Amino acid sequence: MRIQMSLEKQSYDILLDHKAILQLPYEIKNIYKGQKVFIVTDENVYKFYANTLKSLLAEFNVSFVVVAPGEQAKSLAIYESVIDTLMEQDMKRSDLLIAFGGGVIGDLVGFVASTMYRGVPYIQIPTTLLAQVDSSVGGKTAINSHKGKNMIGTFYQPKLVIIDPDFLRTLPNFEYKNGMAEVIKSAYIGDVVLQEKLFKGQIKTLEMIERAILVKRNVVLKDEFDLNERMFLNFGHTFGHALEKQSNYEIAHGFAVAEGMLMAVHIGEKLGITPKHIQKDLRMILEKYDLGLLKSDPVTLIDDVFYDKKNTHGELKMIFITDIGKPVIQPVSKEALYECYHSQASK
Ligand SMILES: NC(=O)c1ccc[n+]([C@@H]2O[C@H](COP(=O)([O-])OP(=O)(O)OC[C@H]3O[C@@H](n4cnc5c(N)ncnc54)[C@H](O)[C@@H]3O)[C@@H](O)[C@H]2O)c1
Repeated sequence: MRIQMSLEKQSYDILLDHKAILQLPYEIKNIYKGQKVFIVTDENVYKFYANTLKSLLAEFNVSFVVVAPGEQAKSLAIYESVIDTLMEQDMKRSDLLIAFGGGVIGDLVGFVASTMYRGVPYIQIPTTLLAQVDSSVGGKTAINSHKGKNMIGTFYQPKLVIIDPDFLRTLPNFEYKNGMAEVIKSAYIGDVVLQEKLFKGQIKTLEMIERAILVKRNVVLKDEFDLNERMFLNFGHTFGHALEKQSNYEIAHGFAVAEGMLMAVHIGEKLGITPKHIQKDLRMILEKYDLGLLKSDPVTLIDDVFYDKKNTHGELKMIFITDIGKPVIQPVSKEALYECYHSQASK
């Protein structure tokens, strides 16, 4: 199936299907007249799929750049070395770049694509669940600075996204769970049917990815540059990010977001924004997908969030849900948040 991203300055297709990767040569020819194709990936993905891509793209002149896996690839040093290697491989401004991997590769290569020669065309081929349901769509690119994650980046849309769920067969279970947190988030901010199907455990991977992408697409189409509605995608991320940071990134993103969503619904409930039944159902879904529950301390997380947001004039903009699929942004004070955890705060 094809999902269209109709943005003002650039539109592109998201091709989603089992075996969608087989369409790659034809899809390239639809958007690109050249012969040279540069693929950036990480060592794990290269090991599993380099031969598949080499034989699929036999009619093109293909070069690979392979980086070590993991978040450390989103560094200035690796960014520079990828650009150096692409230049040594004689990549020109009109040549095609492909990001082939998880969200780390997608963010890094997107940033390379947007900055190298002031912008080169690129394709996203996401291979983790997180990247398939979230990071490959929407055009946010980023690398990390010493001051924090995703501090350097651009908005730069790809020419095409190809999502093939068959890549997930080799994905470690832990990484799959990590991506499920974003699927569950998508359900709670934008798709009541997805939430029901996840709750019953009755959904096929393809439909699950499609529904999650549609939630993301609808939000991005309303607010490409993250000034309003796109912030809904941060449901669970305020305290999720704080928890990741507090654990020195030993708690993976998805698990932290799961905890962050629970905090958001607990606080929402206490403030009279979120109906009571939501918390129980969310907890059950997270447990079903093996994403429950960490022993976090909400009070120190509140302190950390406010310490990080020095410029918020005493209030924090948080994403709540008034019902499944109905997110709202609401400012909250530190005192109001403490009040929601009154028993812990007064210990
Ligand atoms: N741009 C956005 O909108 C956006 C949104 C959410 C997250 N992100 C970013 O995404 C990144 C996390 O992405 P991620 O969770 O995909 O992590 P990742 O890219 O590090 O991939 C996780 C692991 O899975 C391996 N892997 C990838 N595909 C595989 C496959 N098919 N088979 C076997 N192994 C495979 C990778 O080598 C890696 O070891 C973070 O840096 C985050 O900031 C970006």
